[in-house]
Amino acid sequence: MSTNELNNQETLKKSRIVVIGTGAVGSTTAYTLLLRERMSELVLIDYNHAKANGDALDMNHGLPFTGRVKVWAGDYSDCEGADIIIICAGVAQKQGETRLDLLKRNVDIFNGIVENVTKYNQTGIILVATNPVDIMSYFTWKKSEWPVNRVIGSGTLLDSARFRYLIGEKLQVDPRSIHAAIIGEHGDSEVPLWSLANFAGLPLELNQEDKDEIFQNTRDAAYQIIEAKGSTYYAIALALDRICTAIMRDEGAVLNVSTFVSNYHGLSDVYLGVPCIVDRTGVREVVTLPLSEEEENKLRKSGAKIREMIDSISE
Ligand code: 2OP
Repeated sequence: MSTNELNNQETLKKSRIVVIGTGAVGSTTAYTLLLRERMSELVLIDYNHAKANGDALDMNHGLPFTGRVKVWAGDYSDCEGADIIIICAGVAQKQGETRLDLLKRNVDIFNGIVENVTKYNQTGIILVATNPVDIMSYFTWKKSEWPVNRVIGSGTLLDSARFRYLIGEKLQVDPRSIHAAIIGEHGDSEVPLWSLANFAGLPLELNQEDKDEIFQNTRDAAYQIIEAKGSTYYAIALALDRICTAIMRDEGAVLNVSTFVSNYHGLSDVYLGVPCIVDRTGVREVVTLPLSEEEENKLRKSGAKIREMIDSISE
């Protein structure tokens, strides 16, 4: 049986993913999910219904070239029965603006969205992509009153991908064979885990200058791209697709997503990017890593920064 036939068999089973917010990230994510046939039904929701409708039409016209996926622009009632609801809605990061500057603008928008989603769905998984993603995930979880395993943020999965790509470029090794993680805030205080980075179990042969350059380019990647073209969307779409696949296929994949932590190297009651085992239940388990003292200190600072932002909104 060919790979396509196998994929088609999988998608014959009814499954639904809803994408809320069809800006650059939402529409690219939807398109990625469609190309890879991750579900049998794909629903697009946007406050600008005409935009969602245009995207749905555009994607439908491509269906003769893909597998069988039903795509339509819907409303919140279509969240009923959805396996995953991806939230990409919100106002975009402007040039020079930090992710945390976006916070207040986006929390208000999210309160309305989460209320509408949970009115129609109490059993799915919410995947948050909107920045600042750790904080938006925390407020989504609070507002939803769902168990923490079913509210996930994209976290530092994208940052870890950028990190692996840049290390791979430097060493001329396929990034898929580089095991290296960024944890903490998806933002300026994120932490590179050099002490655990390896390929084929071997430590990376990089000098301090290389490491500093790689990390800076990882951390500042979004700023570079936003300066060049206004926003980032291809790689985040692939990261969201990766998380959806781990959920839909019950993979138990280890992914650096944003999740609620309780005494993780001393951090509690925040969402932040850490390695998690992701399967059909969402975040099945948080993986505790043995960090160096320096990494642990940086992680605590990163968590404290997120906590401060949460507090500033909660006041
Ligand atoms: C990114 O890191 C802006 O969070 C987005 O590409």
